[in-house]
Amino acid sequence: MAIDKKWVNEFVNVTAKAALASSYFIGKNDKIAADKAAVDSMRNELNKMSIKGKIVIGEGELDKAPMLYIGEKLGNGNGPELDIAVDPLEGTNFAANNLPGALSVIAISEKNKLFNAPETYMEKISTNVKEKNVVDLDYSIEKNIFNLSEYLNKKPNNLTACILDRPRHRKIINELTKLKVNIKLITDGDVSGALLVTNPKYNVDIFLGIGGGPEGVLAAAALDAYNCYFQGRFLFKTNSDQTRAKNMGIKDMKKKYELKEIVPGDTIFCATGITSGDLVSGIKLEKKEFTSETLVTHKSLGFKKILKLKKTI
Ligand code: FBP
Repeated sequence: MAIDKKWVNEFVNVTAKAALASSYFIGKNDKIAADKAAVDSMRNELNKMSIKGKIVIGEGELDKAPMLYIGEKLGNGNGPELDIAVDPLEGTNFAANNLPGALSVIAISEKNKLFNAPETYMEKISTNVKEKNVVDLDYSIEKNIFNLSEYLNKKPNNLTACILDRPRHRKIINELTKLKVNIKLITDGDVSGALLVTNPKYNVDIFLGIGGGPEGVLAAAALDAYNCYFQGRFLFKTNSDQTRAKNMGIKDMKKKYELKEIVPGDTIFCATGITSGDLVSGIKLEKKEFTSETLVTHKSLGFKKILKLKKTI
């Protein structure tokens, strides 16, 4: 079943308000305060809605941030049962240091139609290809680039790969360099990174590497609306990660998930800019008004848009 489109505007309002709340902490060198403002606002707005909402992807242990915790019930209890994935402030460093790309992000599905996972890392790959077996987490970097190059009819030196700038990615980056692939290194914010494959205007052909699992699930929701390809493999390294995963019903700790296993149903995705970045502009404050830009997708309606809103504060 599809989620009613009437919820789109309500969820845009949720991320826009969270982005506004966080925007007061832009450049204040305080990641926790910027995150807490977004979390508190998101919780407050979600609780006003006529839904029976449940957080299935929240933030928390990975960065010891103030949480909208997994299992938390939200909404006034009258209305549809919705599963909710949140990253109230994606890119805490960006907001704290007034750098481009901080977002407030949410994804919604019907009950049990959004992957339920603990906080952990995830190996990810995304590209603007519908077919399977062009790129795959189990292929070598060389094979992925070779296949993509053939599929897109672009030489490797005309391909661009987006990857988080982390020591753990040194080997991948070296291999991409050897293959003469152009590299777009991002310092943070891999929800946005994964989504740069959605439109040729971003000039990114493939996104890959290890980042947050919640960010992977959120990106998958939007990538689904763009009919893009995504695979993710959670990395449950510690015993406590594995125990939490088992308790949440995950049996195979090394499973590679296809997009449709992560977001099997209809989804709404909203990402509002806090600081301006590749996808959307940041919050603009003018006296008693603020302007926000939100990237919104609604899978079942094929809705993909950037919504600009002007509201009173
Ligand atoms: P925060 O907003 O929680 O700081 O996350 C930013 C981020 O860059 C994510 O986009 C990414 O998935 C994750 O951190 C990567 O984690 P790490 O910094 O530990 O490599």
